[in-house]
Amino acid sequence: MILHYLTYNKGDLFITNFKQIRKLSAKSYFKMSTDKNKIEGAKKLAAYQAVDNHIKSGFTVGIGSGSTVVYAVERLAQRVKNENLIVKCVPTSFQARQLVVQHNLRLTDLDVNPKLDVCIDGADEVDSNLTLINGGGGCLLQEKIVASCANELIIIADYTKNSSVLGTKYTFSS
Ligand code: A5P
Repeated sequence: MILHYLTYNKGDLFITNFKQIRKLSAKSYFKMSTDKNKIEGAKKLAAYQAVDNHIKSGFTVGIGSGSTVVYAVERLAQRVKNENLIVKCVPTSFQARQLVVQHNLRLTDLDVNPKLDVCIDGADEVDSNLTLINGGGGCLLQEKIVASCANELIIIADYTKNSSVLGTKYTFSS
């Protein structure tokens, strides 16, 4: 896996992947930040829609992991506040647990609530038949366990997850 981060140094921007450092022009930096905003906007829209369409009061909800689920939990918290929705959440990872706690949502687990109404998660890659890869972020086992306890599994995917052949965009290294 290549990790990228941006550093700002005396007016110049650098993109770093630990091996190479190359200077970015202001133009390419602004394009990158616009692309990033577009992606985040798409994730947020898809996640809000998924929560609005699939979560009802009284539900026990599996909370997936990753960056898309952040928006789903944000929306769930808004609905709990605005609509007095009553929901219990089963997290699939430490990150998901933290999100639930931060948003003051009700936390539970599979020992107490072994049957979930719905589980909501992001995707790594999705093809045109809507077959997908999930779990690449490292939470595969717990995501699978929680999803298998749910009546319905909702996967949220923005346009960056589209793939003509699964496994080409998201590769697993040994
Ligand atoms: C975690 O193990 C992964 O399966 C994530 O659920 C998946 O990669 C989606 O992550 P993003 O929402 O960050 O793309």
